[in-house]
Amino acid sequence: VRVRHLWDPVRIGALELRNRIVMPGMGTFLGDPDRPGVLSAEQLAHYEAAAAGGAGLVLVEVTPVRFPAGAATLRQPGLATDEQEAAFAELARRVHAHGAALGVQLVHHGKVALADAARGEPVLVPSAGAGPRLAGDLVAGLSPDELARLAAVTGGRFPEPREATDEDLAEVVRAFAEAAQRARRAGLDCVEVHAAHGYLLSSFCSPAWNRRRDRWGGSPEARSRLAVETVRAVKEAAGADFPVLVRIDAAEHGVPGGITRRDAVGTARRLVAAGADAIDVSASGDPTSAVAFTEGPLPWRAGQYLADARTVRRALGGAVPVVAVGRLDPRLADAAVAAGAADLVALGRALLADPDLPRRLAPSGAAAAGRGGPGPRPCVACFVCVAGAFFDEPVHCAVNPRLGRRVGTAGWDRPAPRSRRVVVVGGGPAGLECARVAAVRGHAVVVLEREAVAGGALVVAGLAHPPMGDLARWLAEAALDAGAELRTATVATPEVVAGLDPDDIVIATGARYALPALPGLGTGHPRACTLADLARRGLPAGPRVAVVGDGGPALVLAAALSRRARVELACAAGSPGLGVAHPRRARLVFEGRRRGLVIHTGVRAEALGPQGLLVRDPHERERVVEADDVVFADPLPAADGPHPGAPWTGALVPAAGRRPRLAGGARVHCIGDVAGPGGLEAAIRAGFDLGAAI
Ligand SMILES: Cc1cc2nc3c(=O)[nH]c(=O)nc-3n(C[C@H](O)[C@H](O)[C@H](O)COP(=O)(O)O)c2cc1C
Ligand code: SF4
Repeated sequence: VRVRHLWDPVRIGALELRNRIVMPGMGTFLGDPDRPGVLSAEQLAHYEAAAAGGAGLVLVEVTPVRFPAGAATLRQPGLATDEQEAAFAELARRVHAHGAALGVQLVHHGKVALADAARGEPVLVPSAGAGPRLAGDLVAGLSPDELARLAAVTGGRFPEPREATDEDLAEVVRAFAEAAQRARRAGLDCVEVHAAHGYLLSSFCSPAWNRRRDRWGGSPEARSRLAVETVRAVKEAAGADFPVLVRIDAAEHGVPGGITRRDAVGTARRLVAAGADAIDVSASGDPTSAVAFTEGPLPWRAGQYLADARTVRRALGGAVPVVAVGRLDPRLADAAVAAGAADLVALGRALLADPDLPRRLAPSGAAAAGRGGPGPRPCVACFVCVAGAFFDEPVHCAVNPRLGRRVGTAGWDRPAPRSRRVVVVGGGPAGLECARVAAVRGHAVVVLEREAVAGGALVVAGLAHPPMGDLARWLAEAALDAGAELRTATVATPEVVAGLDPDDIVIATGARYALPALPGLGTGHPRACTLADLARRGLPAGPRVAVVGDGGPALVLAAALSRRARVELACAAGSPGLGVAHPRRARLVFEGRRRGLVIHTGVRAEALGPQGLLVRDPHERERVVEADDVVFADPLPAADGPHPGAPWTGALVPAAGRRPRLAGGARVHCIGDVAGPGGLEAAIRAGFDLGAAI
């Protein structure tokens, strides 16, 4: 990826940034509940990593100004006490040492202040009484386990709304101002006032939520007054020269009568008149709908908010810089700056997936210049990182095994005491990540991959969801770059492995697939195959396809195929897409159904017949799922025994009382789906952990 425009210097007020890349506020839930509101060691390490990775501006996540009042969780940072301020001062020292600027996102969570609800306190809203008509389908789409985790966040309590009084609002404004003062004193370079995502300031801006007729509602000017007065108070308290960004919504997806782009333009103009130094253009959505959540604030499509940013930027006429956000990859971000859609680009998930993204792309000569090596590790838009936010759980990432674990994995790349010969059998995510990390630490690593292309399960996954293919290529490239040798189209027979004289053998052959023994198999129609077979065959031609499976890959495949075929998904479970983060699951089901995907739950595949797949439903009724192709998308359950998978692994594993025949003194490790289906995140994490331990 060639990125040119992101390195041009830029200013926010008096603050000069080394590049145009912003890490936006992203809740980590990594705070220590025993020291509520004080940035934890893990949070400090997380933000320091973003600075070391080369971002121009690092914004600390949502920080409630009256913490713990108005907070979503006690795992958030606060900026209301001396101890909390001191932790921010420590962070500022660390971030500045890497040449990045530091800001903090100040917030009052308003109607979603779940920490208030958990304490039995009411939550502040602009207007009590009936709100807008919402979808209310979030809960229906959750599994029983997810429901239990959701209910645990507030101890089963529902937020009790209370209409904010003038006194409440004056106190909120004062608290924003005091927090900004503390931010400046702690050495931070700026603050961002959070007036988006349905939180207190945003719900005042929204015609759908704010039905007041006093000075805080009734007209667009009055609705934005709370945000405007907050900015004024912050500038007054922290100093006119202390830069203030404001994050606003340009849409409220799924909220009838909610904020529009026109509202956003008016609000942005008034905020700038009040002293705002930059406008960060985001969007929010119906808080009761997982599908709406993937429109705002967590867009599922690349570049989804760019038109909003461009509109606001044009309306402001260059008065202040505009920050764009929303599934921007480096190329899109660069093009957005080049085309004048934005002055700065906030990369959220892209920086969670790889905080070193800026450094990996920076041309030599730029501040925080490149490290060389492969490009950034791609985010695969799986929503795993943000799903935990619903359940008050620490952030983690499917592709970045260090996210949320930086302290525990510090020093992972220290050279090993002795270089060992490591043979990795299987070039899927677990094997490649293990190879990369082991090679970085100085081991001599050979990866043996049976197929002509490395990537394992990601190759098939990439057919349905191209970012998975990008990840497969990245993992292979990064392992090679670290010095591992990759032998594709190589079957790892015991002889081949023995010939490499390994000290360590890593079995990472992935999940196993097999056609179930159903009557009617092998008659030619319908064609039947497993998910793994698609790696060689490509996607089924259809025109009618039945996909059988409960797991994420079955749902992803069915939803993708529904673009070009008539698809039915047959799940034995009560709901499809087990293991997929719930916002993505909701989006896949929604998009699939929109294109005609039919989903059967609670059905068992019984037989194949001339018409297609025969299934039996929970009421023991038989039905035919018409199909020309049937794809069995779930892997076999993990076999018994320590090292299932490759047929010859028995030769490598010490059976009871016997020395391993082939491996001699070699240590044998088994990771990834071959050790039990766990999916992408578990595979990469296991690969990383083993590579760091060998
Ligand atoms: C794990 C996670 C936590 C987030 N928490 C916040 C937050 O604290 N404040 C905020 O304004 N946005 C939050 N967001 C939204 C991001 O700032 C960003 O606007 C959004 O992810 C879209 O950008 P992206 O597509 O580059 O990820 C969060 C996003 C993620 C993934
Ligand atoms: S968890 Fe998934 S969506 Fe989130 S940053 Fe990682 S790869 Fe991207």
